Amino acid sequence: MMKNNTEAYRPHLTPAPNRLLGKRALVTGGARGIGQAIASRFAQEGADICIVDIDVSGAEQTLQDLHSPGACVMAVQADVADRSSVEQAVEQAIAGMGSLDVLVNNAGIITFGSLMECRLEDWDRMMAVDLTGAFHCTQVAAQRMVQQGRGGRLIHLGSTAALMPAPQQFAYSVAKSGLKMLSQCAALELAPHNITSNLLCPQGAITDINRELLRDPELMKAIEKKIPVRRLASVEEIAAAAAFLASDEAAFITGTELVHDGGCTISGLWWR
Ligand SMILES: NC(=O)c1ccc[n+]([C@@H]2O[C@H](COP(=O)([O-])OP(=O)(O)OC[C@H]3O[C@@H](n4cnc5c(N)ncnc54)[C@H](O)[C@@H]3O)[C@@H](O)[C@H]2O)c1
Repeated sequence: MMKNNTEAYRPHLTPAPNRLLGKRALVTGGARGIGQAIASRFAQEGADICIVDIDVSGAEQTLQDLHSPGACVMAVQADVADRSSVEQAVEQAIAGMGSLDVLVNNAGIITFGSLMECRLEDWDRMMAVDLTGAFHCTQVAAQRMVQQGRGGRLIHLGSTAALMPAPQQFAYSVAKSGLKMLSQCAALELAPHNITSNLLCPQGAITDINRELLRDPELMKAIEKKIPVRRLASVEEIAAAAAFLASDEAAFITGTELVHDGGCTISGLWWR
């Protein structure tokens, strides 16, 4: 069977060995999808990794698959929406790794629906995980980074929905645009401490969120045709962008958005 463009085009991604050596990173939502790819990429570049996820068996599976010679890798179960669970997770991460240099706020959920259909419980859970969860993790991690006095990196998984309203993703768009402002406020406040904060905004990576939908070859072809670069992203490409933001090469980049969408935003387009 003919491969679709997304399968046929495999960018040549080469992790920079040792680029993140000596950095201790906490990645939320690393049990699968984008967070798993970020944990894997960071480990390949030499970082110590603590995965914090509600799904601890998935997080432990990720650890087993990491290629991380000599690195400290660990998994902690926590619900990012729960403050005390986040505080304990950050403490455990620091106790295990020795310090904390990079936080990746990746854990997230999505509920679909418009403003008119949005149920209060869906709104509440969306805000609790995607926005308040990121607030908990950012505040607790940043307090520790400031105490440590050796700078740090905050990387938040936004979405192009943070930049323009996504159809049928009302609560998600509101939460992600709130996360954009959280990132900017953190960037301004924490800049004197040499802590950067940036929003990584993907659209259209294949994960468990959409894998089932994209099984239909005809639909896949139609979607690819709508995207300016004519394919979807891989989670590994997003992880490569996150690794750059975590690296010393990005030390002067703060308070901004890295849009990772194959040109969708500039064409005002949603592939879904
Ligand atoms: N896949 C995409 O195309 C896409 C596009 C834009 C933005 N994003 C964002 O990227 C991030 C990762 O998305 P993904 O596609 O990999 O999703 P995913 O569903 O594959 O993975 C999400 C991970 O977060 C964890 N998680 C969920 N709720 C949690 C909670 N309360 N506490 C701790 N962990 C929790 C899950 O267990 C899972 O491991 C999300 O923030 C999402 O909004 C994804």
